[in-house]
Amino acid sequence: MTEEYVDQELIREAGRIIREGGLVAFPTETVYGLGGDALNPLSSRKIYAAKGRPSDNPLIVHIANLDDLAPIVREVPESARKLADHFWPGPLTMILHKSERVPHETTGGLDTVAVRMPANRIAQQMILAAGGYVAAPSANRSSRPSPTIAKYVAEDLGGRVEMIIDGGDVEIGLESTIVDLTSDSPMILRPGYITRQKLEEVLCEVEEDSTILKADSGQAPKAPGMKYRHYAPKGELTVVKGTEADVVRYINEQCRLHRAKSKKTGVISTDETQTLYRVDVCRSVGGREDEQTIARELYRVLREFDDDEVEIIYAEAFKDSGIGQAIMNRLIKAAGYRIVSV
Ligand code: TXA
Ligand code: MG
Repeated sequence: MTEEYVDQELIREAGRIIREGGLVAFPTETVYGLGGDALNPLSSRKIYAAKGRPSDNPLIVHIANLDDLAPIVREVPESARKLADHFWPGPLTMILHKSERVPHETTGGLDTVAVRMPANRIAQQMILAAGGYVAAPSANRSSRPSPTIAKYVAEDLGGRVEMIIDGGDVEIGLESTIVDLTSDSPMILRPGYITRQKLEEVLCEVEEDSTILKADSGQAPKAPGMKYRHYAPKGELTVVKGTEADVVRYINEQCRLHRAKSKKTGVISTDETQTLYRVDVCRSVGGREDEQTIARELYRVLREFDDDEVEIIYAEAFKDSGIGQAIMNRLIKAAGYRIVSV
């Protein structure tokens, strides 16, 4: 099914399932989501169970009309209005104070709620058919990389959801930027496709949760979900920082040692370095400067290493500015903060 042609029969059926308390996995422009009725506490409980997710990790409520924001929040601050104007529908989630209508089951017990209006047309139509409010985490089992194609949703959640809508490849490939608007100055809790620079063009100053690119500092991230090991492939992943020549030399040397012990080795490379590695499986995520492609390919490549049963994986570090910040944030979490500088 392409984005242009949306099967209305399917949308109605998906809407009915969600209104009746069931779960539907669906495409968004960032990653696939696992949707249930955001205003039904039982649906949220089902989502946690299907994902194997701790229930203190709140869900994002997806809407399809700007008018649907006011009923689920205490107030719509000026900053939220401005951000919605510029970035909705799109890959931006805002944290606001919740209203009575949103059950604590959906917000992991918090008095705040995360809200996003996705740009994907299947998602929008399904949200409307479902009654306007769809709680949806990424459609992976907890700690696995978020799915960017329907096949990976089926692998993780097949048999645990009533329906999976196949919308083909997602466009962005990393989850939305999360910005908290409940304290004095806006703060990015999770970096994404919409960068701090883009947000600052709309709101004067935007801060960043200091845990975004740091190894466990003992400090708890402000988005509860960011504290869990995440996005992880099954093999042991290490990120290697340094000049291109040093990184290639180090990875080849390490992989030679692992291969001598009959371990299956893999590398996440860029187009520029792909031919330089002597390992079992080498996968490029795109050109070094092409951060949009790297963002789109990263989770797929991580999952493919699982398909190939690669045991030891090395990844080149990418530059950590712009969208690169979101890429590195996910990569170092996937590596459980195993980073080597050479
Ligand atoms: O792009 C996305 O945002 C995707 C698609 C499906 O829309 N969804 C997604 O949801 O990534 P999930 O559940 O995998 O990640 C939501 C993150 C978690 O880290 C969670 O802790 C945080 O948002 N979050 C949700 N509500 C929050 C709140 N009230 N305060 C702070 N963090 C919150
Ligand atoms: Mg997730």
